[in-house]
Amino acid sequence: MLSMDRLIGEFDRALRAVAGVARSSRPSPGEGVLESELGVAERAQAAALMRVNHVGEVCAQALYQGQSLTARNEEAKRALRKAAEEEEDHLAWSADRIRELGGRLSLLNPVWYAGSFAIGAAAGTLGDKWNLAFLAETERQVEAHLSGHLEALPPEDRRTRSVVEAMRADEAKHRNTAIQLGAAELPSAVKLAMRFASKVMTTVAYRI
Ligand SMILES: [Fe+2]
Ligand SMILES: [Fe+2]
Repeated sequence: MLSMDRLIGEFDRALRAVAGVARSSRPSPGEGVLESELGVAERAQAAALMRVNHVGEVCAQALYQGQSLTARNEEAKRALRKAAEEEEDHLAWSADRIRELGGRLSLLNPVWYAGSFAIGAAAGTLGDKWNLAFLAETERQVEAHLSGHLEALPPEDRRTRSVVEAMRADEAKHRNTAIQLGAAELPSAVKLAMRFASKVMTTVAYRI
């Protein structure tokens, strides 16, 4: 049974995720990197890509929250909580970078959050092996997605790139943790459905 404190804590986390006021425990990797001269179009492009990444992190928060509420194994729970903390850093870093670039967060954040929470909780009820399988695949797809963004970002925008690179390194670590904890391999139809869902999310979030 969940305690009231835990529920309030999770709710607070959800609200902060959606509103873009996450707290980071590690400073942003962009902090030490000088701002480069960017044209209007380049700034807009970088801000839109970071908005997509921010939405990805909102979804990650919701997924991890949904999963940690349903996970059974103590070790898995701890690993999920640790990863969720790092995802919260990503959330804060990307929101900060969007503000620096003069962009805005996705207007649909509450929708992304609710959908991902439901998926995470559903995956959690299938048991830890599948819970972790889902997580490993999500992290793998996010990692691939961030690699694509590193190609699409203006090459001279080193400050944004340093944030994306650090996030990608964390996602790789999260995927390995899930595998080490005993993640199963998802059926390819499920992986395909996940790719499709993320394509919809990224296409919409790039604009709205
Ligand atoms: Fe992340
Ligand atoms: Fe991650």
